[in-house]
Amino acid sequence: MSRIFVFDTTLRDGEQSPGASMNLEEKVKMAQQLERLNVDIIEAGFPIASEGDFEAVTAIAQKVRRPTIAALARATRLDIDRAWQAVCHARKPRIHTFIATSDIHLEHKLKKTRAQVLEQAVDAVRYARSLCEEVEFSAEDATRSDLDFLCQVFEAAIEAGASVINIPDTVGYAIPEELGTLFREVIRRVPASGKAIFSCHCHNDLGLAVANSLAAIHNGARQVECTVNGIGERAGNASVEEIVMALRTRGEALRHHTEIKTEEIFRSSRLLSNLTGIFVQPNKAIVGKNAFAHEAGIHQDGVLKNALTYEIMTPQSVGIPSSTLVLGKHSGRHALKKKYQELGYELDAEAVEKAYWFFTKVADQKKEIYDEDLITIIQDGIKIIPDTYTLKYLQVIGGNQPISTATVRLARGEESWLDSATGDGPIDATYRAIDRITRVRGRLLDYTLTSVTRGQDALGEAFVHVLLNERNYTGKAASTDLIDASARAYLNAVNKALHEMRQLGALEVRAINEKV
Ligand code: KIV
Ligand code: ZN
Repeated sequence: MSRIFVFDTTLRDGEQSPGASMNLEEKVKMAQQLERLNVDIIEAGFPIASEGDFEAVTAIAQKVRRPTIAALARATRLDIDRAWQAVCHARKPRIHTFIATSDIHLEHKLKKTRAQVLEQAVDAVRYARSLCEEVEFSAEDATRSDLDFLCQVFEAAIEAGASVINIPDTVGYAIPEELGTLFREVIRRVPASGKAIFSCHCHNDLGLAVANSLAAIHNGARQVECTVNGIGERAGNASVEEIVMALRTRGEALRHHTEIKTEEIFRSSRLLSNLTGIFVQPNKAIVGKNAFAHEAGIHQDGVLKNALTYEIMTPQSVGIPSSTLVLGKHSGRHALKKKYQELGYELDAEAVEKAYWFFTKVADQKKEIYDEDLITIIQDGIKIIPDTYTLKYLQVIGGNQPISTATVRLARGEESWLDSATGDGPIDATYRAIDRITRVRGRLLDYTLTSVTRGQDALGEAFVHVLLNERNYTGKAASTDLIDASARAYLNAVNKALHEMRQLGALEVRAINEKV
């Protein structure tokens, strides 16, 4: 059973996908959860891509100390310098540099010859290695590259100092047997292959990313690049939870293992969904709502007699709460703190206080409080960034006519403001009233409402994408009342925008805030 190193690229390839962007605090929070999940390497970002990426990689390198932190760079000295400036703070830094090797990319994108690409790859690896002890080299579009040329580039990259060689299936074109053969052949043909770890990086365009990753592992890959929930460019990347649980559940057949703490899988998945608003489909393997639900009578009967009849792994093994009725209106702080401990959350006194405040509000409206509710409370109720405005009062008048009216009171510090607006339905009216007070005009791009548990009094989670000051912000909130959840989700996005703009020192917003 040899060990497979898990290289998580949720914060780089994952974050690159439409709608998945996170702010600095959210990226740090996700990285801290990845550390709890025990991934070996976190690819924290692409520092040259934006100031935000640079700052996120720097912060993660400073704050997340156990795993290796990798920063991505194209094969140029400018990119590599920027990556190094951000990742040098890490306890175990890695520069990950890449260049395309397929003729399609050379001809149409890079407009370079193979000889030029070879030279650039060697120069980049040598330069990166002069700064950082650990260098990974990727041949972009490797699966559509000429095998002889690929081997030549890999040999040269290893000799120039790369200790990790990545063979990405950039466009998700490979099929498992073919990718397995590619790994076997590259490792056999590259004379220096014994000095490097080979890595797979599979995209999911044909739905084969996980199968391809397993085939690569079977043929010599010892590092697997993947993302939580499989998010990533286009159809996404190979999903970490599926690879890890396949290796764990079918260890006797796959004969490799990872050091992932599988009990942290569900929490990682939920956190990412909560941060990005990208929720997994109910039938998603391992982390979907229905992944462990048994609906058919025959199945339920079998599971009740012995879970092994229809369950190849337990929900507990991936950290899915057992959904038992746990606490009620009269439960105190002590019981709440203890329950959170059982669910894997260590709360300090301040966090207990905040969670308890939110818990009592929910308990007032909801008879039965499930583990899922408590997780929602902790993930939604405790904000990573300080709230500029809080919702104090909300009244909405609507009906079966298009026009609704909302009256809202918002507080900021000791002051508060009351205003009303009409709108196209209760949510639109509420958002307009909020805009009137904050004087920040938002445009709703996307809105989802999901129910956390069963029953009429279930906690609902609202998730919004809002365009504010020409940037896309996410907001979320949970409540037993859907208008309240929707209002607070919108306000959450506004607060994030105000926080970020203040951090960036945007004059215009300072002016707006001063006016308010
Ligand atoms: O898919 C890809 O080729 C990549 C590289 C940058 C590794 O993401
Ligand atoms: Zn990729």
